[in-house]
Amino acid sequence: MQQSDQGSDLTDLQTSRPHPARIYDYWLGGKDNFPPDREAAEHAISVSADIPAAARENRAFLRRAVQLVARAGIRQFIDIGAGLPSPGNVHQVAQDVDPLARVVYVDNDPIVLTHGRALLSDNRTTTVLTGDVRDLDELFERPELRELVDLDEPVAVLLLAVLHFVTDEQAHEAVRRIHERVAPGSYLLLSHSTHEGNPERAAEAAKTWDKTASGIRLRTREQVTALFDGWELLEPGVDFVPLWRPEGSTEATTRWMYAGAGRKN
Ligand SMILES: C[S@@+](CC[C@H](N)C(=O)[O-])C[C@H]1O[C@@H](n2cnc3c(N)ncnc32)[C@H](O)[C@@H]1O
Repeated sequence: MQQSDQGSDLTDLQTSRPHPARIYDYWLGGKDNFPPDREAAEHAISVSADIPAAARENRAFLRRAVQLVARAGIRQFIDIGAGLPSPGNVHQVAQDVDPLARVVYVDNDPIVLTHGRALLSDNRTTTVLTGDVRDLDELFERPELRELVDLDEPVAVLLLAVLHFVTDEQAHEAVRRIHERVAPGSYLLLSHSTHEGNPERAAEAAKTWDKTASGIRLRTREQVTALFDGWELLEPGVDFVPLWRPEGSTEATTRWMYAGAGRKN
């Protein structure tokens, strides 16, 4: 693995307040979380017991979408808001298709860097960087990213369950910057929380994020679709995560997140 951001080991992980990466880790059955994270995550479960299932379905969307674009020939991936490692990470899915597929993981939470390094210690095609979806100009210029990703070749950029942590303006700016920087034939893979599938419980569920630094912004299907302006939206467009190109049975379906994929022509 490439060595990046070595100094960040000293960064304060702020374990006294909940963080999105660790709340999500708890729902996925991970062990990299602290009492304030667990308290926030349990609040969500008390509002709607299917929220951990929604997190698992989001990971299943990641697998389906990465497989789809890898089989279409994509060999380089930038996963922004990557989260803590969890089975079925992007490099594991992509390298099942081609062992030389390259992945840059990016997150603004330093705990992701710490844990990501351990997971990727024997993987030369993958790196983990601290970076922010609100500052993609800085990210695209990073030498560590440019060592693995050739921006003149198509790339898949993942924004899974991350844009709901930023404002409308920041979300639109992010997808616009990505579109500007990537080569034709590139893909944008996106998932996003919504209130539309659970209108009566969403406001209470959203309180899960009240003590995090960012809070959460639930968006409509129309608003999520608008994030694909300029991209060719793949079938079936933006739909609830489990309904986006499902494999097998669609009986277990949550309605907490939308998913979509777009291609730059
Ligand atoms: C809910 S997790 C999603 C993880 C993974 N993308 C997935 O869908 O399975 C959201 C991640 O986004 C990260 N995040 C939140 N705001 C961010 C920002 N402004 N820039 C980069 N990452 C951010 C959090 O630290 C967290 O790891």
